[in-house]
Amino acid sequence: MGDENKKELMKQIRDEVLNLTTSPLYEYRKENHYFPVIGEGSHNAKIMFIGEAPGLNEAKTGRPFCGSAGKILDELLENAGIKREDIYIGNILKDRPQQNRDPLPDEVKIYGPFLDRQINIIQPKVIATLGRYSMDYIMRKFGLESELLPIGQMHGKVFDAKAKYGDVKIAVLYHPAVAIYNNKTKDTLKEDFLILKNFI
Ligand code: URA
Repeated sequence: MGDENKKELMKQIRDEVLNLTTSPLYEYRKENHYFPVIGEGSHNAKIMFIGEAPGLNEAKTGRPFCGSAGKILDELLENAGIKREDIYIGNILKDRPQQNRDPLPDEVKIYGPFLDRQINIIQPKVIATLGRYSMDYIMRKFGLESELLPIGQMHGKVFDAKAKYGDVKIAVLYHPAVAIYNNKTKDTLKEDFLILKNFI
């Protein structure tokens, strides 16, 4: 798929999400003058990172991982020798849930298909899941639900899956936010991120 085509398909997603009046988070976005967060990065990325949902900073700017979790993500990427401009970063939910609460199943159902389309546009070789919601969604999407365990037993592992466009690897990672107040988890995250070095 050509670059222009990819750009156009991403724009369509953005426009649909902007007008997603059927979402339970649409009114909350409007009332607070928030932006939806579609995703950011290279449309030809080999590695696509998938988080959970925008936080406050993200909803205010429309950019993924630009707050405190984003700072940690930047550190983890740098430590693994990965440039942010070479990857694509998105979320399952494109709108911020109230008070950063966990995503609800109905919300995942509404926003999930946009993420599915983004995956098929970018066609990454590796999908790196950040946190348990992302792990859960992606593992199930690729028919790997029988492999699912609590994230404490999954982080740092890589699974082989088949996408519409070809083979894809799923790398399971903790969410960077878990390291905000915990240096030990940050060390684990740093180590886990090194597995991505094999794919750049
Ligand atoms: N946490 C997420 O899961 N996504 C973001 O974009 C920011 C914080």
